[in-house]
Amino acid sequence: MTKAILITGCSTGIGRAAAHLFAKRGFSVTATMRRTEDAGDLAAAENVRVEPLDVVDVASVERAVAKTLGAFGRLDVVVNNAGFGAFGPFETATPELIERQIGTNLIGVFNVTRAALPTMRAQKSGVIVNISSIGGLTTFPLNAIYHATKYAVVGFTEDLNYELAPFGIRAKVVAPGGVATDFATRSLSLTFQGDGGPYADTIAKVAATFQSRAAAGGHSKPEAIAETIFEAATDDLPHVLYVAGPDAIALLERRAKMTDGDYLKMMRDNFGLSS
Ligand SMILES: NC(=O)c1ccc[n+]([C@@H]2O[C@H](COP(=O)([O-])OP(=O)(O)OC[C@H]3O[C@@H](n4cnc5c(N)ncnc54)[C@H](OP(=O)(O)O)[C@@H]3O)[C@@H](O)[C@H]2O)c1
Repeated sequence: MTKAILITGCSTGIGRAAAHLFAKRGFSVTATMRRTEDAGDLAAAENVRVEPLDVVDVASVERAVAKTLGAFGRLDVVVNNAGFGAFGPFETATPELIERQIGTNLIGVFNVTRAALPTMRAQKSGVIVNISSIGGLTTFPLNAIYHATKYAVVGFTEDLNYELAPFGIRAKVVAPGGVATDFATRSLSLTFQGDGGPYADTIAKVAATFQSRAAAGGHSKPEAIAETIFEAATDDLPHVLYVAGPDAIALLERRAKMTDGDYLKMMRDNFGLSS
């Protein structure tokens, strides 16, 4: 039996890499994206169907799930990958940006999960893999709204397991560290205008630190994160959390040995915020 998977946010980055990997490993793949003209090489890839899906548009979610069932007759795995980052101080974020961040990164996960569950329950099997972040387990300066969504995804995912276990469905969460994708460029929305006014000094220091880290390289490739997603989707183990990337693993190990106060001080020092 060929298994079927639906993945969100396949126009670039981790979602696109995951679509290619699952197709290569024999899954029937529904690779979804907001604009199907962004499909690129996925349009002609073997085992792949490209469907439009915007995670904040429930009708588009339901259509993509129905198309998957029509084409493949089943739905074994859902990967909730679509997301973006809101960067900057909380105080200056508009209500619209806050709602878009929560709508995409959290309610979007709810929308796709809810649409997939009736089929998985009827099949008595299924795996939901939600992409959170190292930012769902620990914090970096000026990412408060993003963290709020990614921490929520971790709690949501773990808790689903209580109610879904009787139906043979597992929920898992993948938490990548830094990944070399469009995330820190095209997919970043700023919470401030101009230099950020009273937060200008903090913004300048934090942005410079993130930029120099990105320039130094060392971020995981999206293909490596796709491997972790594949493991989560197929290992048939009751693990919930899959931390992906050496930077994420190292930072969490470090934090586990520190007090909260020491962690905040370390981060303030690392981002030049101590003075
Ligand atoms: N890169 C990192 O360092 C990193 C680290 C930890 C976690 N993550 C998480 O990994 C996931 C994928 O990010 P990425 O690194 O692969 O970045 P990316 O290359 O920017 O990809 C983000 C994807 O999400 C899609 N998207 C955004 N809003 C959407 C919506 N409303 N409906 C459907 N799709 C939407 C984008 O589509 P469009 O092309 O239409 O904009 C794009 O396909 C995100 O959830 C992100 O939070 C990334």
